[in-house]
Amino acid sequence: MATPLDNRVVVLGVTGGIAAYKAVELLRRLRELGADVHVAMTRAATSFVGPLTFEALSGHRVFSDVLDLDAGGAAGVQIGHVALAQTASAVVVAPATADFLARAAAGRADDALGALLLATRAPLVIAPAMEHHMWSHPATRANVQTLVERGARLVEPDEGALASGATGRGRLAAIEAIVGAVLEALGGKRDLVGRRLVVTSGPTREPIDPVRYISNRSSGRMGAAIAELAAQRGARVTLISGPVSAPLPPLDAVIPVETAAEMHRATMDQARGADAVIMAAAVADYAPSAAAKRKLSKSEQPLDRIELVRTPDILAELGATRPARVIVGFAAETHEVLEHGRDKLLRKKADLIVANRVGTAESGFDSDDSEAVLLFADGRVKVLGLVSKEVVAARLLDAVAELLAGEPQRSRTQAPRARSKARG
Ligand code: CTP
Repeated sequence: MATPLDNRVVVLGVTGGIAAYKAVELLRRLRELGADVHVAMTRAATSFVGPLTFEALSGHRVFSDVLDLDAGGAAGVQIGHVALAQTASAVVVAPATADFLARAAAGRADDALGALLLATRAPLVIAPAMEHHMWSHPATRANVQTLVERGARLVEPDEGALASGATGRGRLAAIEAIVGAVLEALGGKRDLVGRRLVVTSGPTREPIDPVRYISNRSSGRMGAAIAELAAQRGARVTLISGPVSAPLPPLDAVIPVETAAEMHRATMDQARGADAVIMAAAVADYAPSAAAKRKLSKSEQPLDRIELVRTPDILAELGATRPARVIVGFAAETHEVLEHGRDKLLRKKADLIVANRVGTAESGFDSDDSEAVLLFADGRVKVLGLVSKEVVAARLLDAVAELLAGEPQRSRTQAPRARSKARG
């Protein structure tokens, strides 16, 4: 039988506290569950436990300095933390000292672990351990909050006898609690089993002639992240994707489309009876009224005017006809993100809108991160902050699972209509 962490590369970060010896047990448990564990130690950690112990148990060399090199196979020699950052499925830092939390919150990259945290898109689990006054200090609280807001999973320290001789909160959490958080970070949540989700992704292309088209900026990474994670959480997922350059995730059902009209057809077709439809695609709002069959030539006719027609608003149609139980839209905005997001929520009758800021260097189309807010039809607002697309996907699916769990079989807008029909 496959183990839960089969083939998953897990980076175990060990920082310099007394509890560093407990990381040996954590390494052993992760290996038992099938993970391929690589260890990154801070220099201070090496004073508590020798790297050789971790090397012998993990079967890999330990990274410590930012410039540690690794023979990267076919790729030749690579900087260790960069190579690992790309292959890691999860990073767990246990124990995480107060100093580590401060450096991670500040984004320092002066050792291999700090640099790896900046370079990776893998989920992060932190299990702090320290003297109780240090844990309760406002500086530490603020650093922990910063990391959690960025998407890190916190495994709170336990109360008990501390290395200082005092008693209080600061002991490293139980190894199983840390392992549980790693499993959860890796999609261990199975809250979408039995659900069918339709996710649209990427841009659409509206042809002007066989070589020219109108399109929107979209990498398709947000939709792919949602589809992939939903599948990991147990859902049957259909991904309807416009043309994107990145490889499409390995899912059971992927429907490639090109134009808004094709996306409209495929989405309405797949949405029937689905539990949720998530419109992450950047659908072009206008298309040329007719695409020329042959390439238009500037020398033969002016190309400075193209007649455009509106494309079908798929999200609005889903909201109006409700073929699925939960309808989710996106609002990519450059300004007044909340106001525009709320407006779209009402206008398109969605259950949930992910409003995100685009057009800044940190957030949007080509960046890994996204400044996002979840707006619910019942008025609730969940601020996610500037987080990775994977974190947006995870929080969005939490919300979808919650809406599905709280929702009766028929949608709220359909139920009264169905009843009045029966009466009439
Ligand atoms: N959308 C859609 N069909 C369209 C255009 C957009 O389904 N033809 C969906 C997108 O997938 C997204 C949401 O609608 O989930 C928001 O899209 P946006 O283009 O920002 O909304 P508009 O109504 O076009 O608003 P704006 O006034 O900002 O153009």
